[in-house]
Amino acid sequence: MIKKAHKSAAQAQKKAYAPYSQFKVGAAITSGAALFTGCNVENASYGGTVCAERVAIWTAVAAGTKSFDNVVVVTDSEVPAPPCGFCLQVMAEFCKPATRVWLANPKEILKVYELRELLPKPFGPDFLDD
Ligand code: THU
Repeated sequence: MIKKAHKSAAQAQKKAYAPYSQFKVGAAITSGAALFTGCNVENASYGGTVCAERVAIWTAVAAGTKSFDNVVVVTDSEVPAPPCGFCLQVMAEFCKPATRVWLANPKEILKVYELRELLPKPFGPDFLDD
């Protein structure tokens, strides 16, 4: 499953629209046998840019899937690039603390973390109960 997800994330990276940063990112997320992909989509306003991980998650949610087992992120960075803080927060909404986040380049997976390692103290719905 991870091999397939990695391949799909690498394919998605090729679709990245990154004319401003030239930093192309592909993401794939899995939920059981289901797989969703995304790429970063930049905007001339800069602030309108959306990361590959969130594109993949929103695509999945729009298709009715709201819980994920794995997130694979493909960049061309030599040092494996972790997801940004916004994406980690969105992952915390839909993933488990033990969800695996695989960091890769198009050729190979370089590193794997659990989400709780990358975002140890997420803001969550419990804080909204008071
Ligand atoms: N980017 C992602 O797609 N995912 C991340 O987790 C980090 C950053 C994108 C956003 C922007 O298009 C480019 O990489 C440079 O920040």
